[in-house]
Amino acid sequence: MHRTAAPKMSSKSGAFVFLFPSCAEHTMATPLEDVGKQVWRGALLLADYILSQRDLFEGRTVLELGAGTGLASIVAATMAQTVYCTDVGADLLAMCQRNIALNSHLAAAGGTVKVKELDWLKDELCTDPEVPFSWSEEDISDLYAHTTVLLAAEVFYDDDLTDALFKTLSRLAHRFRNACTAILSVEKRLNFTLRHLDVTCEAYDHFRASLEALERLAGGPLRFMVEPVEASFPQRLLYERIQQLELWKIVAEPAT
Ligand SMILES: C[S@@+](CC[C@H](N)C(=O)[O-])C[C@H]1O[C@@H](n2cnc3c(N)ncnc32)[C@H](O)[C@@H]1O
Repeated sequence: MHRTAAPKMSSKSGAFVFLFPSCAEHTMATPLEDVGKQVWRGALLLADYILSQRDLFEGRTVLELGAGTGLASIVAATMAQTVYCTDVGADLLAMCQRNIALNSHLAAAGGTVKVKELDWLKDELCTDPEVPFSWSEEDISDLYAHTTVLLAAEVFYDDDLTDALFKTLSRLAHRFRNACTAILSVEKRLNFTLRHLDVTCEAYDHFRASLEALERLAGGPLRFMVEPVEASFPQRLLYERIQQLELWKIVAEPAT
């Protein structure tokens, strides 16, 4: 995966300036188990998209999956009412919480970001008060009653995790009271594999197959509509917007 250059963001009006790494914590290279501790390029593309979609975010309840450093959640919080910023691991979530505190001045008036553990490999949200970043019953009720937007950046690098994430996305969409829109970013990474003796993009292919499977699901209370999002929205953060960087939109709404 490609790590990012130092991202910078500023509002057009000059009302705020946001220098991400200088006022937020992240690391510049990470072993696989710590991949959430750096900002990935797909998070920057997603952040740019969020900034271009005021109607989708203003006053809304948003859930981010696999948030890592929390960049996309912080940007969503400049417009949203409540952002549930989720990932796994107390250490990573604590880092994310510090980043959110450092950038709390950017949040919309009355808006909040809540850092919570949400593990795609578990069917239920943890409500044990002894566990750091667990959920209160009120938060769970609020999440299910009000969420209309779901975000995930750069979380499609391992097929088993991709399966778990799609299962989580579908389960949550079925529990939400409202229709919801999920925005996913992915980078199509090409690797040479000895197995194929060729260059392939297996993780990306598995992601695309999962999108197609979701769209084909039939007979349930929801239908899922999938479409690519053209990256023609303005670029306000510093990163290379390469062709392999993609955004996908999934709309989950009642089948009838
Ligand atoms: C490549 S990082 C992307 C982080 C961030 N979204 C970004 O783009 O900068 C993948 C993220 O998925 C998270 N993740 C991996 N397995 C997970 C699981 N089972 N449940 C929830 N999050 C998980 C990791 O902790 C990490 O933060």
